[in-house]
Amino acid sequence: MQTGSWKTRIAVLGMILILGSALTAAAQDPAVQGQPTLYERLGGLMPITVVVSDFIDAMVPDPVLNANPAIDAARKRVPAPYLKYHVTAMVCQATGGPCQYNGRGMYESHVHLNITESEWERMLTIFKEVLARHQVPPGETAELLDIVDSTKDDIVMKQ
Ligand code: HEM
Repeated sequence: MQTGSWKTRIAVLGMILILGSALTAAAQDPAVQGQPTLYERLGGLMPITVVVSDFIDAMVPDPVLNANPAIDAARKRVPAPYLKYHVTAMVCQATGGPCQYNGRGMYESHVHLNITESEWERMLTIFKEVLARHQVPPGETAELLDIVDSTKDDIVMKQ
């Protein structure tokens, strides 16, 4: 009886802790707090599609990236509209929008491309140029760069 009541108390305490951390996580979510998500601050899907489209259009013919034969071969084989579709869905989802990314994982999509640190830096330069051209404010630019950075370990070839 005594043991049973201790078990019950521990179970109740555990549930309170789980509920407490779930509520804390929800309270930190901008959508729950009534603050605009990054997706909303960027202006939603219409401007996101334009920025992603310009980004892919700048990446695909880039001579620095295409000096890598694996990237050059892939860009000739994979249609740019396909990349635009998937990258848009990914950005939309990652910024808190209503889309669902259903493409392949980042490691699986890039492992055969042998992407180096300097090619990654080149991509970041192109990305920042496109964001600046579209006058994305510094705060939103920094948040987008954090999202991109979170994929780096899966994309850049290990030395
Ligand atoms: C130097 C950096 C990068 C280069 C050169 C690059 C290039 C490519 C290429 C050539 C493909 C097609 C590969 C194939 O199907 O054989 C691809 C796929 C893809 N990339 Fe990248 N990429 C880079 C970084 C990124 C980043 C930072 C993201 C997103 C944050 C991204 C998102 C995607 C997606 C969503 C796909 C399509 C996945 C699928 O087929 O399901 N890429 N990329």
